Amino acid sequence: MITPPRITLANGLDISRLVCGLWQVADMEKGGTALDPEIAAGQLDSYARDGFDTFDMADHYGSAEIITGRLLKRHAGSIRPPVAFTKWCPEPGPMTRDIVRRGVQQRLDRLGVASVDLLQFHWWTFEHPAWLDALHEMKAMQEEGLIRAIGVTNFDAAHLALALADGIPLATNQVSFSLVDRRAAGGLSDLCKATGVRLLAYGTLSGGFISEKWLGKAEPHHIADWSKSKYKRFIDAAGGWDMFQALLSAANAIARKHGVSISNVATRWVLDHESVAAAIIGARLGESEHRADNLKAFGFDLDTEDHGLLDSAFAALAPIPGDCGDEYRKPPFLTASGDLSHHLSTIPSAYETLPHEYRQGLRVSTGSVWEPIAGYSRAVRVKDMIFVSGTTATHSSNRCVAPGDAGAQATYILDKIAASISAAGGRIEDVVRTRIYLKDASKWEPVSRAHGRVFGRILPANTLIEAGALVGDYEVEIEADAVVDTTAAV
Ligand SMILES: NC(=O)c1ccc[n+]([C@@H]2O[C@H](COP(=O)([O-])OP(=O)(O)OC[C@H]3O[C@@H](n4cnc5c(N)ncnc54)[C@H](OP(=O)(O)O)[C@@H]3O)[C@@H](O)[C@H]2O)c1
Repeated sequence: MITPPRITLANGLDISRLVCGLWQVADMEKGGTALDPEIAAGQLDSYARDGFDTFDMADHYGSAEIITGRLLKRHAGSIRPPVAFTKWCPEPGPMTRDIVRRGVQQRLDRLGVASVDLLQFHWWTFEHPAWLDALHEMKAMQEEGLIRAIGVTNFDAAHLALALADGIPLATNQVSFSLVDRRAAGGLSDLCKATGVRLLAYGTLSGGFISEKWLGKAEPHHIADWSKSKYKRFIDAAGGWDMFQALLSAANAIARKHGVSISNVATRWVLDHESVAAAIIGARLGESEHRADNLKAFGFDLDTEDHGLLDSAFAALAPIPGDCGDEYRKPPFLTASGDLSHHLSTIPSAYETLPHEYRQGLRVSTGSVWEPIAGYSRAVRVKDMIFVSGTTATHSSNRCVAPGDAGAQATYILDKIAASISAAGGRIEDVVRTRIYLKDASKWEPVSRAHGRVFGRILPANTLIEAGALVGDYEVEIEADAVVDTTAAV
């Protein structure tokens, strides 16, 4: 029997290169009726028997974890049981030991296992720094044997690099990657190649839009399923339906040449990236079935002519804005609903805002014991001006984040600055001046790149100073001044 090729991730986790995605379970259950877990587990079993034995879930994918738990029970004691990836996507807020352990334990309980094969962490806003606490606690749980491999999902290159530089042993990053959304082929792939983190690609078929079914079809305006609702937003962001049809035509010409399907061309293109371990293809259990066709992605190679055709189609498309995961963190939200309403009620500020005692203004506090002792605030707002303190990569417990890595520290610092400005009622776009103090001038480039990632379009006036005497493990300190544009729409 022909089965999908396999690949080994960190900690010897042996997986299928075609992972069966179960977000679709939540869509099928959105009316309020859960799938029958035994029938659905039987359907997963037929995937597993055909070599599609790796399943991707999340805490919010309806009853997917419970269904997979039933499947795992059927295979208890087998030499090669199915592999279960899940995700924990907590609401932003403090990530105490208890909160993290409760979140992970819920995954273990729902799956009915003693150890999660791959636990992927999602975080909604890097302005809230507790994501590092969560990952460190997950690392401790991995050392206790409760998690086999740790992954993240929807992390951009800068934050993936920061997590690694802070000592988190990440195996994977699950991101959108397709003919329509090629962001992951850039800096993120380079980082993955350099560090050994592997990408798990989702959206490879844009919810099914990248298939013969949609070739030459009129633009849909009423979309029933969440997955297609999400990827229609990607198609619109990439230039719209006509441009998408041109891409589909190019993929179709390649498919006809090789005697395969358009979906096979799309899957092959994604899997051919060295950084990609596997493509996750969504399955509507009991409704539609594409296993036999998806296997054909491994029966041909894309040649130079094929790449030329695809590259010409890409050149006509607009790039999806931002880096991987931005679609969950800033407008335009490329989610099923077009915002975060399916996921979150509010995003709390990381910092406390207090009236300023001596000024008609306010001050932002981290709650650090040092602020009253040393007499400073995280930031101060006077009228429309916000002054953000010289900011170092100090994490809540007075720990220096990513010791020795100036670029990673700059990423962390710039999130703190953005959070301080948000707490004071401004936006990062309001920054008009930054000052960077660098311990070792030879490390200017990663810091400048981190600054450019945030300020590349905002273009504040800037000063870069070598300051050989920064205290402790700090490589860099940054301060910022902002003038709030009170006329800007929020
Ligand atoms: N980490 C994240 O933030 C995130 C976000 C989204 C998804 N995901 C993961 O990725 C998985 C993949 O789902 P997705 O939403 O991205 O959708 P997708 O995999 O791009 O598309 C899945 C759909 O494509 C169609 N399809 C599959 N194989 C086909 C073939 N050979 N020919 C024609 N059509 C085919 C099917 O549609 P029909 O059933 O209509 O035929 C299927 O439901 C999810 O289940 C989830 O596990 C993760």
